[in-house]
Amino acid sequence: MMSNLRNLFFGTDTPINTHYGLTSRVYLNNAATPLVAEPAIQELCEVLPIYSYGNELNALSAQLTLKYNQVRDIVMDFIGADPSLDTVIYTSNTTSAINILSQVYYEHDPDQIILTTRMEHMANYLPFREKMKTLAVGITPEGNVDMNDYAAKLEQYSGQIKLVAVTGASNITGLIPPFYEMAALAHSYGAKIFVDAVQLVQHKSFTMKSHKDASHIDFVSFDGHKFYTGQSGGVLVGDREFLDQYRPLMFGAGITEFVSSSKIIYKGSPERYEAGYPDFLGIISWGAAIRFLDGIGMENVEEWERGLYRHLIRRLSEIPNLILYSDVYNNTRVPFVAFNLKNMLYRTLAYKLGYGYGIDIASGTSGANLYVQDLLGLTDQQAYSLYRSGEGYGIVRASIGLFNNYEDVDRLADALICISS
Ligand SMILES: Cc1ncc(COP(=O)(O)O)c(C=O)c1O
Repeated sequence: MMSNLRNLFFGTDTPINTHYGLTSRVYLNNAATPLVAEPAIQELCEVLPIYSYGNELNALSAQLTLKYNQVRDIVMDFIGADPSLDTVIYTSNTTSAINILSQVYYEHDPDQIILTTRMEHMANYLPFREKMKTLAVGITPEGNVDMNDYAAKLEQYSGQIKLVAVTGASNITGLIPPFYEMAALAHSYGAKIFVDAVQLVQHKSFTMKSHKDASHIDFVSFDGHKFYTGQSGGVLVGDREFLDQYRPLMFGAGITEFVSSSKIIYKGSPERYEAGYPDFLGIISWGAAIRFLDGIGMENVEEWERGLYRHLIRRLSEIPNLILYSDVYNNTRVPFVAFNLKNMLYRTLAYKLGYGYGIDIASGTSGANLYVQDLLGLTDQQAYSLYRSGEGYGIVRASIGLFNNYEDVDRLADALICISS
């Protein structure tokens, strides 16, 4: 059943030109952006006849607006948010969601410390670092968050750290940090926790847990394009009462109850943070994509992808000269693998896979600059020298999605065998 799902995605086998002629592509760049699922596009086709600006006083506009707002409930339900306490703020993507959160925390207390990790994508580092003092927890030799360092930093800066920001899964190695454990510890120090779930929720079931639970996740973001829609639209989910208090990041129409030259009254959340055009189509399409995965069952998604991942690791571990980063046998992960070939520049390897074999994978730092630097064992100075020399540094990443099959995995492994020999 799961292998038939491939037919429900666009572009899985599109012909691609390579140095050896035409072949069908192998798409293993799902952590960057996965291919698009048909249900997401079918939903668009159904909604296009009633497309309008929405929010107007007529029946079709009301229908569109209702569909758009219903996605808030779909999101809440999917991640176990509490409709009586949480709000779902629409954003254009995960980056903008985290920028909103960083602005909120800056407004909350500009002198606080934000605690994040060296595992993060820059979307979960720079928005905080550019506004407030931001510390990054180190990484263990296995590639996960160093919990001793985490506990030590919480203790050392007790009372000053108001927010912990951690990824739900590394976009490089796929490893999942122990975020519930981190949440419980953060709460015991009076801090809240944000989980950047954009690489997690389409691969594994996830819940924010009850607000009463010690390991409750206070804020979450993720988005549609990484969830098989190919479109923008994302969310920041979290405590409504808290989010109702702060100045928005973006200013414009739709966020105020009243404006005159002498007085401005902002709406509460979510509208307060949703200035400008509501992305009706991207959001509605995303709602359909979430329903699609929910219908398959996240446990089935996880099992299928775990099988593919294990097969990939079995095949890759046979290849001489291949360096695999992080503890690839740790199954607390989403199905991504980071590697390099000894004595070959990451870019050269990616080029050979792409132009030689039609394999679409990522290469470089993929936005996780500090993490990749650590995985490669580079000091700041070494990283800077490599940048200055033009050589750069990076790794190659293969990331599995729901539509991938065993043949995709074998084609990558076979190509690597040819390239390495
Ligand atoms: C872990 C992680 N967080 C945040 C982002 C930013 O997501 P977006 O580009 O959709 O805003 C990415 C993008 O790759 C990511 O991998």
